[in-house]
Amino acid sequence: MGEFSAQWLALREPVDHAARSARVRDVLLADLRKRHGEQLSGLSILDLGCGSGSNLRAIAPHLGGQQRWCLVDYDDALLDAARLALKAWAHVVVSETTDSLQIMYGDRDIEITFRSADLSGDLQTVLAWPADLVSASALFDLVSRQWVDRFCDALRTPLYAVLSFDGQMQWEPEHPFDQTVRQAFCMHQATDKGFGAALGPSSGRYLCDALKQRAFEVTIDKSPWQIEDLPSAFHDMLIDGIAHAVLETGSLGEADMDTWLAYHRRASLCLIGHDDLYASVP
Ligand SMILES: C[S@@+](CC[C@H](N)C(=O)[O-])C[C@H]1O[C@@H](n2cnc3c(N)ncnc32)[C@H](O)[C@@H]1O
Repeated sequence: MGEFSAQWLALREPVDHAARSARVRDVLLADLRKRHGEQLSGLSILDLGCGSGSNLRAIAPHLGGQQRWCLVDYDDALLDAARLALKAWAHVVVSETTDSLQIMYGDRDIEITFRSADLSGDLQTVLAWPADLVSASALFDLVSRQWVDRFCDALRTPLYAVLSFDGQMQWEPEHPFDQTVRQAFCMHQATDKGFGAALGPSSGRYLCDALKQRAFEVTIDKSPWQIEDLPSAFHDMLIDGIAHAVLETGSLGEADMDTWLAYHRRASLCLIGHDDLYASVP
């Protein structure tokens, strides 16, 4: 547990928000309006693997006046970080208890419940909590085929699942080790992240197919990180994380990895691919 630091999630949040597919978000909002009315008020959203709450901060401004969010993670330190980040983001903190928070963001009145749960085991219980929408960002590339199958069998609401890594990884200027690094990183992404062998780069496509097989109507689109403002703290932490993973696979040794890191610290452009998806209930 605790593989994702609050510092990393804070650095990636603006890049994640900029990368999200506007097309998928528009389909989500149009479908929710069709089901719940133009005002999009009174919606309940269950956010899985919430981290420090980035997904709420991305979507809540697009939804209506009254919102209820249930933020789920198994990392209690990240649930604490989510509370702090949401209080800092809010225009007004209305009230709070040990497991809840009520805030105003502009004219949005947002009630938030924080739930600690391990989704690898508690999936059925968590999905039984009342919700009009299940959401997740940067979660589905961690899970296994078997978990996605169980998840899709149990899902009774629309799903908004964004920022699943799709295997694309490019820098400008290129380095001769880039392909080896990309392949090794994808291999590492497919190792067990607590749910069995992870889908990693094939998660977006697998989730899309699994939902379609169960008659969900699916919209999928790309949401790449396009990191141009280099050097940056985010890019430094990204390539350090990639190098760490590649070293664990044994595909490159430390000296080669150091050469690669030194080269890309001066990169002018980095592109990391993702899939965003919205699935409307049959
Ligand atoms: C890449 S982070 C994404 C966090 C957040 N959704 C975001 O977009 O910033 C993946 C999140 O999934 C959570 N997670 C991983 N495995 C989990 C599990 N078995 N049960 C619950 N949460 C889990 C991690 O603690 C982390 O917060």
